[in-house]
Amino acid sequence: MQPDWDEQYRIGETPWDKGEAAPPLVAWLRDHPGSMTGTVLVPGCGSGHDVRAIASAEPDARPLGLDLSPTAIAKCRAQPTTGGERYVEADLFALPAELRKTCDWVWEHTCFCAIDPARRDDYVAAAAAALKPGGHFLGIFYLDPYRGDHQPGGGPPHGCTLEELRQRFEAAGRFTLETADPPTACYPERQGRELLVRLTRQ
Ligand SMILES: C[S@@+](CC[C@H](N)C(=O)[O-])C[C@H]1O[C@@H](n2cnc3c(N)ncnc32)[C@H](O)[C@@H]1O
Repeated sequence: MQPDWDEQYRIGETPWDKGEAAPPLVAWLRDHPGSMTGTVLVPGCGSGHDVRAIASAEPDARPLGLDLSPTAIAKCRAQPTTGGERYVEADLFALPAELRKTCDWVWEHTCFCAIDPARRDDYVAAAAAALKPGGHFLGIFYLDPYRGDHQPGGGPPHGCTLEELRQRFEAAGRFTLETADPPTACYPERQGRELLVRLTRQ
């Protein structure tokens, strides 16, 4: 059962929103200054913390937060502008034509694990469509979000494996996997449960 994402934002039930940018992203931006430049798509950006972190760290970046929830996008737009960030209300699975082959980077955080796993190949296709040839995909993937009552087959977040990521991103010939490592920073409860993956669009 997938959530009604906009309703979640309307009623304020957004446990994924930590009120700050993802620690693995903040650490990566600190450790790779000047790398994430050009148009950076952030799919499922929620209230936009990661978008603003990129805009703040990289003055040459044009981060573009995309989310299907109008309430989330309104929250993004209500924030003071940090740099060159923009937001678009859209369904990733119906990528606006003007975004195709325009992105230099995709930053993924808690969108892949949120969507219906049956749509993961559609996610990969959308990321591939957004990126320019040679573009970069950097993502934090939730390998094991399961604990207590939250087990596979329930709602999001949905886990994945590195083998699955290889299959979905590489096997279709759209991406080359460059690195896959534990992030250098993460929330304590996610220690050992996430993987920071970098891929290149072929
Ligand atoms: C778990 S939340 C994570 C939000 C944000 N990345 C964060 O960490 O706060 C998943 C987000 O993906 C968005 N989303 C889900 N399916 C989507 C789709 N098909 N297209 C665009 N956004 C989508 C939801 O509206 C929601 O904001």
